[in-house]
Amino acid sequence: MFKLTAVKYKDILDIKDLKIEEKKITCIVGKSGGGKTTLLKLLNNMVSCDSGLLKFKGQKISDYNPIQLRREIIMLPQNPIMFSTTIKDNFTKTLKYTGNELRSENNYVNLLKKLDLEHNLATDTIKLSGGEKQRLALARVLLLKPKILLLDEPSSALDEDTEKFIIKMVVNYIKENNGTLIMVTHSRSIADEYGDTIITLNNGQIENVEKRR
Ligand SMILES: Nc1ncnc2c1ncn2[C@@H]1O[C@H](COP(=O)(O)OP(=O)(O)O)[C@@H](O)[C@H]1O
Ligand SMILES: [Mg+2]
Repeated sequence: MFKLTAVKYKDILDIKDLKIEEKKITCIVGKSGGGKTTLLKLLNNMVSCDSGLLKFKGQKISDYNPIQLRREIIMLPQNPIMFSTTIKDNFTKTLKYTGNELRSENNYVNLLKKLDLEHNLATDTIKLSGGEKQRLALARVLLLKPKILLLDEPSSALDEDTEKFIIKMVVNYIKENNGTLIMVTHSRSIADEYGDTIITLNNGQIENVEKRR
């Protein structure tokens, strides 16, 4: 689905040849500063490569309409910004800003339940812990029903049990909806458990691509 050929970005990334498959779970691992976040931003067309070619579904990524692309490829950044003030606001604003229809409160409540966030819709997001904020950010993203979801270390602010629960939930969601998941993770055990493909990226270069299923 994504095909990178001789892609360079500043002195951060130098990727000779990389394919990322559709409807699979791809995990990206590697040392901090290796370019993992930058790679996700390239895939989302948030930044463009300086040279080389990045194709999405057979076409140069920069040829797509950026708005349409953002609808299809949704990225959850490592430190997502909360909208003030309530949990409900976060859902409605996300839908508004992305040009979607609002949903019923029931819909939002079910999503919170799915992510084990036992809070009222009227709760002020200021009161949420780091891990809870991350789960709310994930809920916002799932509300958009992404076909392709890019997650940047989704579990860095979560304790281990919550981390496992959340990743499992996201993986199930993606599989049920025939979606594609590309996630950066610091956890080798998560990569081993869920990754159909594990890409190791170090110093801006692909060190290894392990296809497991
Ligand atoms: N906008 C930017 N301009 C210049 N350097 C950057 C920018 N973003 C990240 N970097 C640098 O690029 C390298 C890779 O960063 P990043 O993609 O965030 O790595 P990772 O996610 O693997 O930790 C780091 O050395 C970082 O300091
Ligand atoms: Mg990063």
